[in-house]
Amino acid sequence: MTRPADFWNTVYDNDTAPWVIGEPQPAIVALERAGGITGRVLDPGCGAGEHTILLTRLGYDVRGIDMSPSAVAYARANAAEQGVPNAAFEVADALALGDRPDFAGDPPGSAPAFDTIVDSALFHVFGTEDEARAAYVRSLHAVCKPGGTVHVLALSDVEPGFGPRISDTLIRDSFRDGWALEELRPARYRGRITDLVAQEDTQDLDVSASGRVDAAAWLARIRRL
Ligand SMILES: C[S@@+](CC[C@H](N)C(=O)[O-])C[C@H]1O[C@@H](n2cnc3c(N)ncnc32)[C@H](O)[C@@H]1O
Repeated sequence: MTRPADFWNTVYDNDTAPWVIGEPQPAIVALERAGGITGRVLDPGCGAGEHTILLTRLGYDVRGIDMSPSAVAYARANAAEQGVPNAAFEVADALALGDRPDFAGDPPGSAPAFDTIVDSALFHVFGTEDEARAAYVRSLHAVCKPGGTVHVLALSDVEPGFGPRISDTLIRDSFRDGWALEELRPARYRGRITDLVAQEDTQDLDVSASGRVDAAAWLARIRRL
């Protein structure tokens, strides 16, 4: 669900984000090891910044953006603590990236900026909101180079869990015109049980001793035409 920045700020300020796990998502680590990430990279909805930090450390040219100033502050502090102070973060709305000449092509009409976009748990936030989801997909199209790749790691509705869980059909239907869906497969998204999600449908989840859950997810690879 689309939420104002204040909602996300509160989650970071109170440290109740179930996705803040102190490490990158194992599925994204595996994706990088498999060669799925090339060129200039965008990490939209970067949250605590783990993926931007990981990829910067590995030598990628990567930009983490988030609409929440608290998330960006958290990510910068996290990067400094992990010894990656050059990890680049900024506050930006992922629904309006096409308005950014430096992302969408400067001068206007020149090449979009990014070869690879790594969406970890942002797409599903717009799961029930058709307009916002369409705006997000348009926004990605504006800043992804033709032939570039968008990876979407999103919570799946095939199992009980927490957060906005979506169907594979929603991913297929959202990336049609101007895109080629190359792969869509089951994956896992690691989270932690916090006050924010403890009331949700979590009793059947396999929670580790450290409070971690590997929830059902989708991992999609989508080519920008
Ligand atoms: C579920 S969290 C995922 C964070 C991170 N990618 C991860 O996997 O740990 C979603 C993030 O998207 C951010 N977000 C939500 N709507 C956004 C928007 N329109 N533009 C940019 N960021 C947004 C939130 O502030 C939050 O940090």
